[in-house]
Amino acid sequence: MTVAAVLVAAGSGSRLGHELPKAFVPVGGEPLVVHAARSLLAGGDVAALVVVVPADRIEDARGLLAGLPCPVAVVAGGTARQASVAAGLAALPDEADVVLVHDAARPFPPADLVARVVGAVRAGHPAVVPALPVTDTVKRVGPGDGTGEPVVATVPRGALRAVQTPQGFARDVLVAAHAAAAARAHDEGTAASDDAGLLEERGVPVWVVAGDERAAKVTTASDLWLAARRAEELS
Ligand code: CTP
Ligand code: MG
Repeated sequence: MTVAAVLVAAGSGSRLGHELPKAFVPVGGEPLVVHAARSLLAGGDVAALVVVVPADRIEDARGLLAGLPCPVAVVAGGTARQASVAAGLAALPDEADVVLVHDAARPFPPADLVARVVGAVRAGHPAVVPALPVTDTVKRVGPGDGTGEPVVATVPRGALRAVQTPQGFARDVLVAAHAAAAARAHDEGTAASDDAGLLEERGVPVWVVAGDERAAKVTTASDLWLAARRAEELS
């Protein structure tokens, strides 16, 4: 089986509020997207990479990603993450039959995490997500009045998982789910926030393997601070 990865890096990073698009913000001297690409390739499972970036960053990204130890295609993303993943899928090499989808906003997924996801797809699971147990207490709330909102219920957290990337898929199953979803013309508000969600909607079984806190996502400025500490640790 040949594994390729789609690395989505076409978001703006509005919650981070940096002058650069989030994936191009440096930590430890290099942009998040470069760290993420290297992390994906570190274990040697991934044979080709498609990196999806804002249309006006394609040349910049090609320069940043030159010299990686596998073929790298760089393509333009869309206005929602789902559209960016779809653009990446369209540029996959023919021989890829297993696809990882990874967020550039997660710069440091450890090699053993990537290997766990790939291993579970190779073992026959068509869709695999890494996830961690939820540690916060989670409550469902009702409509608020501007000053607060009422609790409706406390959600038992024993069976809850916070899902990460890379997520791994049998290529044909993922491509079919994206094609069906694109036909419904989602925007960022209604699109599935991960790829496995599109498969769940179609009744495809999704398998969970252990995640890793080092695969944390950079969303806000304090996440960036933590990513910089990780970059130091790894250097
Ligand atoms: N992404 C993308 N194309 C989009 C939106 C998001 O490729 N139109 C990518 C981001 O670059 C990121 C990943 O999807 O690597 C996860 O998205 P998120 O963390 O939400 O990043 P942004 O959308 O950039 O951030 P924000 O939502 O704060 O604007
Ligand atoms: Mg976003």
